[in-house]
Amino acid sequence: MPEIKAIISAWQNRFESILPGYLPEPEQTPRLLREAMHYSATAGGKRIRPLLVYASGRSLNLGEEALDGIAVAIEFIHSYSLIHDDLPSMDDDDLRRGQPSCHRQFDEATAILAGDALQALAFRILAADQALAAYPSRQVDIILGLASACGAKGMAGGQVLDLESTGKHISQTELENIHAFKTGALIQISTRAPAILAAAASNQHDALSRFGKLTGLAFQVFDDLLDVTGNSATTGKPSQADAARSKPAFPSVIGLEKSYARAYELRDLALQELQHIPGNTDALEWLVAYAVDREC
Ligand code: IPE
Ligand code: IPE
Ligand code: MG
Ligand code: MG
Ligand code: MG
Repeated sequence: MPEIKAIISAWQNRFESILPGYLPEPEQTPRLLREAMHYSATAGGKRIRPLLVYASGRSLNLGEEALDGIAVAIEFIHSYSLIHDDLPSMDDDDLRRGQPSCHRQFDEATAILAGDALQALAFRILAADQALAAYPSRQVDIILGLASACGAKGMAGGQVLDLESTGKHISQTELENIHAFKTGALIQISTRAPAILAAAASNQHDALSRFGKLTGLAFQVFDDLLDVTGNSATTGKPSQADAARSKPAFPSVIGLEKSYARAYELRDLALQELQHIPGNTDALEWLVAYAVDREC
């Protein structure tokens, strides 16, 4: 495991150093918009989606250079989703990664537009990526996969279901459906996109896809737990926020103990999928374990 931690931390360093190069150049973008995009995209965060991209690639013998564009594109969609998630019309949260949320640091219109621009930029990155351009049909499939993961059948659709559930009693199955859409889909494409790029055998592609979906679900179950058990100074976001706005979340729907049990069960189901992958899955194993054993 120490070796894996070194690999993960090298990926983190790599990602932090390449990301700024993908943001708009000063002369091409209105200053306020550029500052807001930069503020939210470089504000830290665990970078679990890019790490999953590199880890999935490692299991398929893909080098990092071929995966940088995919990793950044997915993280920009994630950054955009958080900017919008914090808006007064959605979760109305003032704190993100220990800093004022984008709309508090700037203003609501700028936050909405920074999110819009990050989303557009994500697709531009994939369409312009040199490593992907060598395989045009795989490139299109990755773009389609990301579009599905963040659109009406993915993150945006899940956010609508999440908001509609406010103040309602819903079942565990309904909650898992919301979580699979709002969070699972983007994490699923993080492990699936490298399989598309590598033209992996269909059983390996499907296993990495299911691994991502299960990891994403586990990740959101644990996010719900951290909302109750975490401390704001560590998570960098408000505590008890789900209950404060009467939002169904795992602890309120099935209780703390069962929520932990479900998170670990999802982790174990995800790990089982890795049996279908002949390559090195050590980093994927580390990341799914981390998804359900973290402080922020
Ligand atoms: C927070 O995502 C929102 C969820 C989908 C649970 P992360 O926990 O990945 O946020 P950062 O990027 O590390 O801040
Ligand atoms: C957010 O879920 C999922 C997204 C698609 C952004 P949450 O609303 O639980 O995320 P946090 O807790 O604000 O990070
Ligand atoms: Mg939310
Ligand atoms: Mg939120
Ligand atoms: Mg949350």
